[in-house]
This record gives sequence, C-alpha cells and structure tokens, in this order.
Amino acid sequence: MFDWLLGKKKVKLLSAQDTNKLLKASIKVDGQGLYVWQHERSLLDVLDKAGLPVRSSCRNGNCGACIAYLIKGEVGYVKTVHFPLEKNELLMCSCVPIGDIEIALPLHPIDPRKRKRSSY
Ligand code: FES
Repeated sequence: MFDWLLGKKKVKLLSAQDTNKLLKASIKVDGQGLYVWQHERSLLDVLDKAGLPVRSSCRNGNCGACIAYLIKGEVGYVKTVHFPLEKNELLMCSCVPIGDIEIALPLHPIDPRKRKRSSY
C-alpha cells in the first residue's frame, strides 16, 4: 500500500493493445550481445531463443529468478508481477522492451527469501 514510501519500484503494466502497438526493439546485454525483440511474449523468450544462459523458474513474475538490471531504455510488463523489484531491476519473464534497451544480467542469483513479497 505504501510502496512508494518504501522506495519500491512501480511497474508499467501494458495491455495487449499497447503491446501490439510496440515496434521491434534491440536488446543489448552486458554491453555486448545485440538481440532483437519481435513481439515474443517476453524478454526472457528472446534471450532463451538466442541461447543465452539466463536464469528462470516460474516464468510468471513470482520467484525473481529472471531478474536483470535495466541500464538504458524502458520496459513494460505484460503480466502482473508479485516479486518486489528494486530500482533498475526488471523481471525478464514478464516484460517486453518499449524501444531499444540495454540490460545487465546479475552475476549471482537473487535470494528471494531476502525480499518482502508484494504485488504491483
Ligand atoms: S522466472 Fe520467476 S519471476 Fe521470472
């Protein structure tokens, strides 16, 4: 309820119509690889398809296994997520790029037990 007060990140939820209006976008990962989102269901689907070793588990915005850091650009969420995100974090399984983006993958998995659960 008072997430804004605690500094928790709010996510931008996209409707199916919003998502359909998006143009294909490039995704730069860890300053190197360049991938293209062409209306795949999520950012995770693009990177999985490209064979990148990305972590995932629930694929539904609950566990936090697919966390990455947004370096440049903006993402929108195609589903409601329940994992509490902090500034610059995104859940690859639940979002799509809104224009070209740059992300960084975490070096170590995020421990979900250290996060307080909430929904956005
Ligand atoms: S895979 Fe669980 S939140 Fe993305």
